[in-house]
Amino acid sequence: MIIRPRRLRRTPVIRDMVRETTISVKDLIYPLFVKSGKNIKDPIASLPGQFHFSVDTITQDVNEIWELGIPAVILFGIPDRKDSVGSRAYADDGVVQSAISAIKKEVPEIVVITDVCLCEYTDHGHCGIIKNGQVDNDATIEVLALEAVSHARAGADIVAPSDMMDGRVAAIREALDGAGFKDTGILSYAVKYASAFYGPFREAADSAPQYGDRKGYQMDPANAIEALKEASLDIDEGADMIMVKPALPYLDIITRVREQCLLPLAAYNVSGEYAMVKAAGQKGWIDAASVMMEMLTSIKRAGADLILTYFAKEAAKIIKSTT
Ligand code: PBG
Repeated sequence: MIIRPRRLRRTPVIRDMVRETTISVKDLIYPLFVKSGKNIKDPIASLPGQFHFSVDTITQDVNEIWELGIPAVILFGIPDRKDSVGSRAYADDGVVQSAISAIKKEVPEIVVITDVCLCEYTDHGHCGIIKNGQVDNDATIEVLALEAVSHARAGADIVAPSDMMDGRVAAIREALDGAGFKDTGILSYAVKYASAFYGPFREAADSAPQYGDRKGYQMDPANAIEALKEASLDIDEGADMIMVKPALPYLDIITRVREQCLLPLAAYNVSGEYAMVKAAGQKGWIDAASVMMEMLTSIKRAGADLILTYFAKEAAKIIKSTT
């Protein structure tokens, strides 16, 4: 007798009934870049279909995102000026702070997450304060805490530290609580690898390190056990959700972290993963929309609950038309 698994693949309806993994629009978080100025909506060359917005134009886009059913955005700022300590990162009139208030006024219910890091704000492009030629961990977490509190003061629902300094989740939690923001959540980029897949983002955010690299603070792509350690440290320090980043080359890590973590788990489908699909799609070498859905499905199947992705709007439209 032959066992016949194909019986359950016979019709679209049967396949639908036995499908193990589905993506909901509610799983998606949309990254947005905001810069100072007015009336700006400039295409980002390295991320086809993505834009630099100014504070006045970003709200229109957020309206559209919300109408599509996407529950959250994550904001990245490109400041008007940079300095060695990234002081525009924690200025109450900074570009992200202004965008948060504008978005919260226009679409109060959408969840506003902010990337908390210094690389977009420092003139040297590193994610922290430089002392003796090195990124100084303990000086950096003080500044990150100021940044997180200023985002919370502007109305952010969740802050997302992406710097990979040790002890920053505890420092941010303490600072938020101390400033009266006990309900502001922390989505920690707990497991963030030193990845070449961030290339298009660094062009978009003008945040490439001017010298050296990020290997002294971001993780070695060869390490998996260390990922479990990073995840458990951030959980112990008080993270509300944690993230693995990038997503596709690290699906095994998503699965392993999911198995040991009792918090919602996010994965960041990063700029290089997006740009590769867009480029090959433009050349006609792949069917970009199908590849996109296959990739997003793989990230969920691996164990992610939430996906940060530049594909969010496109995927939302496909999900809506097929459900
Ligand atoms: C900031 C930060 C980076 C990304 C998110 N937050 C860049 C980096 O670490 O160099 C990358 C996101 C992407 O590639 O889409 N530290």
